[in-house]
Parts: sequence; structure tokens; C-alpha cells
Amino acid sequence: MAKNIFLSRPLPEAGMELLKQSEFNVDIHWDEEPLSRETMLKRAQKAHGLICLLSDIIDPAFMDAAPHLEVISNYAVGYNNIDIDHAKSKGIAVCNTPGVLTITTAELAWALLFAVARRIPESDIFMRNGKFTGWKPMLMLGSSIHGKTLGIIGAGQIGTAFALMSKGYNMRILYSGKPNRILESELHAENVEMHTLLCESDFVSLHVPLRNSTYHLIGKEEFALMKASAYLINTARGPVVDEQALINALKEKRIAGAGLDVYEYEPKLTPGLTELDNVVLAPHIGSASIETRSIMAVMAVKNCLNILRGKPCKNRVI
Ligand code: DGY
Repeated sequence: MAKNIFLSRPLPEAGMELLKQSEFNVDIHWDEEPLSRETMLKRAQKAHGLICLLSDIIDPAFMDAAPHLEVISNYAVGYNNIDIDHAKSKGIAVCNTPGVLTITTAELAWALLFAVARRIPESDIFMRNGKFTGWKPMLMLGSSIHGKTLGIIGAGQIGTAFALMSKGYNMRILYSGKPNRILESELHAENVEMHTLLCESDFVSLHVPLRNSTYHLIGKEEFALMKASAYLINTARGPVVDEQALINALKEKRIAGAGLDVYEYEPKLTPGLTELDNVVLAPHIGSASIETRSIMAVMAVKNCLNILRGKPCKNRVI
């Protein structure tokens, strides 16, 4: 009997085509809006393969309700939505989509950095409201980017790509964590303690995965170390930052601003965040280019098909 694949949301066409052409029975939740947890569990009951999103919580109860599950293929590089230990204990393979969204996510981090430092969303609203009455010396003054110090927390693939894009802006690059030869040889980046990075950076960009060790990595004490003129950029995962502490820091002008693509209680925002002028908010669109999402779709589908076919899969997390 053919195996079953459950896809929790429609993906770009290239991935859907691959799925349709496969020998497996495919059940697709066609709506862009998520299923209720109860329906999700029901639909996954017969699945041998699950292709899911970073917003689908694949916890022990989910896996226990899907006894045939052989593979969970996440349509994302991050996989903190999946209980890896439980999957391992049940012999379920878990795959992700590394590499293909690296540059795209780094691009968004820069977009947020520019947007908040040069006050682009504020300027746009200003223009649309007909407030532009002429060039003024003090209108919408923001922060220069060139010549400043850029701090990278988490110099993995995305953090490295982000740092490399600073070429041309003549920036001093600091990073924390494991030594990174590319950053040191290409940018003369300095590997420093996080404390030093926070004290000396004009822009701090987060690129760490969400783990127990990175939960609330940036909170009240860390904001206290940052310069009052510094900006925080988060395209990693929301809970890496204590969102209430961030709101307090922004309100009290402890830091100059923030550019966020991810949120602690996603998709909910901590009350007060949207009232602030010195924050730019994006709806978790780090990998959201037409090209990248299409490549991710093919990769997520291939990961699932390969495991179900008993073939090797290089994107296995476990
Ligand atoms: C990922 O793939 O983990 C990103 O957060 C998607 O934008």
C-alpha cells in the first residue's frame, strides 16, 4: 500500500509539482491559514511523511498521535518547533532546508538595519500623510551605517553572509562564539566576548538558533550594556530576546532602535511594541523571496520523498 504524506500548508508550485508526481498519497491542507491543533492531529494520523512549517508545533503529543510517521520535513532551516529528542526516541527522521535561504535572510537583516537606522518606514508614512513641505536640515535624521561597528551574535551561515555584506561600508566587525576564519580573513573581524560586543557595537545583529542556552540571550542586563545610539536587529528567533525588556529599552531610549522579523510570542506581539516609532517590524519574512521560497519547497519535498523511499538525505537533522 502506498505511503501517505501530509502537507500542512500549500507551498510554491515547484514543490507541489514534485509531490503530485510522486508515488505517494498526498493530503494537502490547501488554506494559507493554519489548521486547528485538533484537526492537524487527525489529518496527521495516517501520515508516514509530514511536511510542516516553523509555526507548526510538532511536540511529543503530535508524534504520538501519528504512529506511522517516518519523517518530519520542516519548510525552514530552524527546527525549534520540533521536539528533536522525542523524534529521535521514536526513530523519526527530521529534515530542514539549510543553505538555500542564507543570503535571502541576510538581505532582510540588512533591509531592517537600513530601514530603522535611516527611518525609512517613518519617512514613508510622513510622505503619505502629506507632511513634506520642503527640505529641512533636521528632517528625519538617522544614523550613518558606514564606518560603524557591527556586532554579530551567532556567526554561523547566515551571520557570516550578513557580515560579508558589510563590505563597502568600511565597518569594524565584532563577533562572539566560535572562531570564524572567513570573517577574520575577509573582514579582519574580531572574536570577542558577548559583553564586549554589546558594549562596543553600533549595530547588534542576532543569528543564533533558539535553544535553551539562547532563550532570552538578550534581556534587561544586555540592553543596559548597549550604547544608547545602538540598534538591535533580530532575524533569528523571537524568544532569543526578552521582548518586554526590549520594549522598555526602546521606550526609555536605552537603545536607539530595533529591526525585528521575529517575535517572542509569534504571531502575537507584546503590547506596546507597535506604539513605538523606533522599531521596524516585519512579519517573519526572512526567507520570503519568490526564488528562495520556491527552492525551499523543492528541498523540503525532496527531503520527505528521499526518506520515505529509503534513500539518503543530506538535510537530516537527526
Ligand atoms: C527559517 O527557515 O528558519 C526562517 O526563519 C524562515 O524565514
